[in-house]
Parts: sequence; C-alpha cells; structure tokens
Amino acid sequence: MQVHLAEHLPKNKKVQLGSYYTPEKLVNRVHEFVKHYLENRKTKCIIFDSAGGCGAFIFKFKNYDYRIADCDLKACEFLKQHFKPHKIFHSNSLKGANRNKYLIPSSAFLIMVGNPPYNDTTSEFRKGEKGQNICDEDLYDRDIGISFLKSYHKLNADVVCVLHPLSYLIKESNFKRLRDFKDNYRLIKGEIFSSALFHGTGTGKFPILVALYEKCPGGMTFDYIRNFRFNILGSSKTFVLSDFKTTDGYINKYPPRKNDVQKSPIGLYYYSFRDINSLKKNASFMIREHPNGIVVTLENFYKYSYLYAFKNLFNPEDAWLYGNLSPLVNIEDVEKNKRLYVLYAIKTNKIFGEIGDFVIKKISDYYKITFDDTNKVSEIEKTIKNKLNKLIN
Ligand SMILES: C[S@@+](CC[C@H](N)C(=O)[O-])C[C@H]1O[C@@H](n2cnc3c(N)ncnc32)[C@H](O)[C@@H]1O
Repeated sequence: MQVHLAEHLPKNKKVQLGSYYTPEKLVNRVHEFVKHYLENRKTKCIIFDSAGGCGAFIFKFKNYDYRIADCDLKACEFLKQHFKPHKIFHSNSLKGANRNKYLIPSSAFLIMVGNPPYNDTTSEFRKGEKGQNICDEDLYDRDIGISFLKSYHKLNADVVCVLHPLSYLIKESNFKRLRDFKDNYRLIKGEIFSSALFHGTGTGKFPILVALYEKCPGGMTFDYIRNFRFNILGSSKTFVLSDFKTTDGYINKYPPRKNDVQKSPIGLYYYSFRDINSLKKNASFMIREHPNGIVVTLENFYKYSYLYAFKNLFNPEDAWLYGNLSPLVNIEDVEKNKRLYVLYAIKTNKIFGEIGDFVIKKISDYYKITFDDTNKVSEIEKTIKNKLNKLIN
C-alpha cells in the first residue's frame, strides 16, 4: 500500500471512488494554508479528512488531534497500522454526517482537509462505471465532490481547506448547487493547479483549486467569486474571472428548442458546446441537421466563424486554465473584423467545398468579400492568433 498512490484498487474501483491520491507537493500547500489556525490555539482543535484514503494529508498533522474516514476497507486497514485505530472510521462520509459520528465535541475547532472525490455520477461517457452517490438527502448532488463540500457545513466545520475543481466556483450553475455551503463559508485563499499533477487522471487537463474557506455568516455570492484573485501554483500570474469577457450573451451555444426555427436557411449548423474544452473537442460547422446543431444563418455566420477560429487557433501554453470558461471574445474586434473570420472559416473548413456554390455566393454577397487566392491563409491565421493572444494578456 502507498500513501500517494491507490495501487491496491483496480481501475474501475478507482474511477468509482475517485481514488486519485494527492501528491506531496499539493498536500504541503494545504498544510501551509492551515498551519496558522493550529498555532497558539486555546480551544481544542481537530483536523479531519473525511475522504482520507491512505492518509496523505493526516500524516502531516499526526501531532495534532485528528480523524480520518474512508469507505475503502483496505485503505482503512492500512490507516489502522499507522494511526490510532479509534480515530479511523470505515464508513460512507456522506451518510449521517454529524460530529457525534466521529466523536468530535461540539466545542472543538474543526478543520476539514483533504481531496474529496470529484465524480459526476451522471457523466454521459462513464455511466455505470461511475456508480451512484449514496448519501443523506440534503447532501445529494450528482457530483460527489459537491456533496462533500455540503457535508462540511453539516459537520459545522470552522475551516475547510481542500482540493476541488475550479469549476465548482466559477461556473455559476455549479456555484448555486453548493447551497448551504456557499451561504455559510467564504473563500479566503485559492491556488489553481493543473489536473496533470495527478497520476492517471487522463488526457483532458482541467483546473483544480487548493481552496481555503472560513465559516462566515452570509457566506459568499457569485459576484464575490467573479472578483476573487486566484493564485496559480508555481507562477506569478493570477486569475480573476471578471477580467475575461466570454461569448455568453453574445453567441448562442444551444441547439434550437421545440418552438424555435429548426432549419438553417443556408443549410449550415454549428455543433453545440458548453465551454472552451467542449468547443475544442466537438465538431464545428455541419451541413446536416443534428440534435446538437445550432442553427447558423447568414446574419450570425461571422460569429460562428469566430468560434471556429477560436477553436483552432487559441492554443496558449496554459490552455488548461481556461477550459471551463465559455470561449473568450473581444466583441468590438469581432464586430469590426467580421470579414476576417468569415474568410478564415471559408478558406480552411473543408465543409465549404461541399456546401454548394450558391451558399458561398450568398455569404460573399452578404459580407462583401471575394474568396480569391490573394488572401493567404498563413497571413490570416497570424493576424487572428495575435488577436486571440491579447484576450489573456
Ligand atoms: C481523491 S481520494 C483522496 C485520498 C486521500 N485523502 C489523498 O488525498 O491522497 C478520494 C478518497 O475518497 C474516498 N471516498 C469516495 N467516496 C467516499 C464516501 N462516500 N465516503 C468516504 N470516502 C469516500 C475514496 O475511497 C478515496 O480514498
């Protein structure tokens, strides 16, 4: 058994339990974030990792009073060899979450640490493999990680310092799902790192946060998060959500609803997307109706041409950092340079070789451009890349 690697579990169990153990470098960040709460404290202080695995976090806090819980029996047996057995709890931490269960006095100053599993149990790609979220009714969420955050409120934790996806905070729909947690806790410090730091988490990199929260009446609003300055591990750069202008409200990203027009007048569709990650992964222009196809018209064609250019040419070194955001945009630039983006799409997407000359003619008349060969693709790409770089600098 290893403290930083869940080698004892087969792959499917690892996915189901979200058992991606934490590398020491990240454990150390949590330790640094919370140590000042432990120094010179007069009241009894307890450190608790309720998704403790093989104890990566609590090994650092062995000299304090601690609790560790996990539903993985083998991990708990390992823990009992290294920690005081009566402080180890083999159980589902999302069932019957309260202090009594873990022998934590109500007067104790409770600090939750760890890296709870992030696991969307309804994930369309991994249905079945991901299992179910069996938990108290009031903790339920389709993502087990969100249920864990809610459980800290039920335990009436004073401080919470855990790793979780940045998307829990910066996507407003996710933020709302935090319910009582967001209404009672406030983010004090946040440091972002790439999921690539975890062993065996696949190729799609996404931003994760070392998040420090304190209990606080009134909690936090989404506006507070929008203006929060996040640090980035190993970099002097910072990340503030409100610094970025996205296509939300400017470019529609959903297929038509039941009563909307379903057919494109120019026979053109764009594959729907949620964020930059899915824009990059999914198809782009399509010439057949599709359940995920957004209707493209002559009037909005330049906007989807912009998205197509963004999909191909926005490739910063730290692309993982932006993956959960909607595509970035400088609206003024796109409005001014409609023809540039249209030209790029027509010249580089092979679908426009199949669409029929009359559609190309309509586009060319509408945007008043000719698609002759004097417009070098390499030049167009260079110009667009320069513009896209400015979105993050
Ligand atoms: C990402 S690992 C973290 C382990 C350890 N804290 C570390 O960081 O190395 C998540 C842990 O949560 C445990 N787990 C998953 N669902 C759980 C649940 N409902 N109750 C208790 N533990 C759970 C898994 O068994 C796994 O050990």
